Amino acid sequence: MISQGLERRRGDRRQPPITVRPTYAHIDLAALVHNLGVVRRWVGPRCRVLAVVKADGYGHGAIEAARALVDAGAWGLAVSLVEEGVELRQAGIAAPVLVLGGVVPGSEDVIVHRSLTPVIWEREHVQRLASAVRRSGAPPAAVHLKIDTGMSRLGLLPSELGGLLDWLEGPDGGDLRLEGVMTHLACADDLDDPVSPQQIEIFREALGSLSARGIHPALRHVCNSAGLVRHPKAHFDMVRPGIALYGAASSPAVALEELSMAMSVHSRILGIRELPAGARVSYGHREELRRPSRLGIVPVGYADGYPRRMSGRAQVLVRGHRCRVLGNITMDVSMIDVSDLPDVRVGERVTLLGQQGRERLSVYELAAWSDEIPYEILCGISKRVPRR
Ligand SMILES: Cc1ncc(COP(=O)(O)O)c(C=O)c1O
Repeated sequence: MISQGLERRRGDRRQPPITVRPTYAHIDLAALVHNLGVVRRWVGPRCRVLAVVKADGYGHGAIEAARALVDAGAWGLAVSLVEEGVELRQAGIAAPVLVLGGVVPGSEDVIVHRSLTPVIWEREHVQRLASAVRRSGAPPAAVHLKIDTGMSRLGLLPSELGGLLDWLEGPDGGDLRLEGVMTHLACADDLDDPVSPQQIEIFREALGSLSARGIHPALRHVCNSAGLVRHPKAHFDMVRPGIALYGAASSPAVALEELSMAMSVHSRILGIRELPAGARVSYGHREELRRPSRLGIVPVGYADGYPRRMSGRAQVLVRGHRCRVLGNITMDVSMIDVSDLPDVRVGERVTLLGQQGRERLSVYELAAWSDEIPYEILCGISKRVPRR
């Protein structure tokens, strides 16, 4: 009967997409708002919050996350790509959007047309953006200048600052408005971190060079989530949290207290198999059953972002109890051991990440089982998993 429904809906654009599979990610937008409140209280009323919603809001849905965070008082949003910024604009979001990835050739007109604020660090960025502003007749475009104080990724070295300022003070500079200056910390989440204080000092020196030339950008910003927790003296005018807003951190040691996880992932048991001791489970036969076992078949796999590298280590929650994932996680399906829960039936709720009853599977556990970082777990939950 489902197939008939699918046929009927195929030509009908008004129908919502069909989602019959029981695997989904639950996104708690109230948790995002709560976490923004935690960050705002921590940094104080004079410090703005630029909410980082790149990579589809770390897997939570960029548009929904952005709307919730802006409504709750985030000054603006940060994305990595121009495309991500355009997606926010197309959704009607008018807040400032900082494009962290710079001015990619060919993106200038869109940046100007959509009033996105690019991060710049090269003469070519200035030139291309200024030409686009002139072509469009728009007012000067806001930009933030990025200084590489030690991350060795994006930005210019302090020694290159003078050259770029010469350029900004030239004819092209008139079409740009230097709203902000920023840097990014490389090691803020290391507990033993001698690097961040050095980076912050280099940034302060660069600010000194700007001010010596009469340049005083309104928004100076340095700190990501771990940075804002560990370096309160470096909050400057604005902080740029990402992971903290979603309720997590690189590790619990650098997490703000009171954060609430916004994402949980759930599924339901698709089938129950009774198998004898000695049966071997899944690809590669890595797991041999040591006792007669009841297996729950769960429709989630690595194509959903449930990492295959967790095989042999992962656990899930059923009826508030931890159950082992047996054998290799496959592309679409995982097998779990429900032998100790004899009443469990087909259709039973399975929690892969988050709380069930009194038990909780944290993002830190999943990250440890898969040798990944919490960011990868959250961003990795694939598009195939509907967000509710
Ligand atoms: C430049 C920049 N600022 C801020 C962030 C947010 O970092 P976090 O999620 O650790 O708070 C990122 C994310 O990688 C970033 O690239």
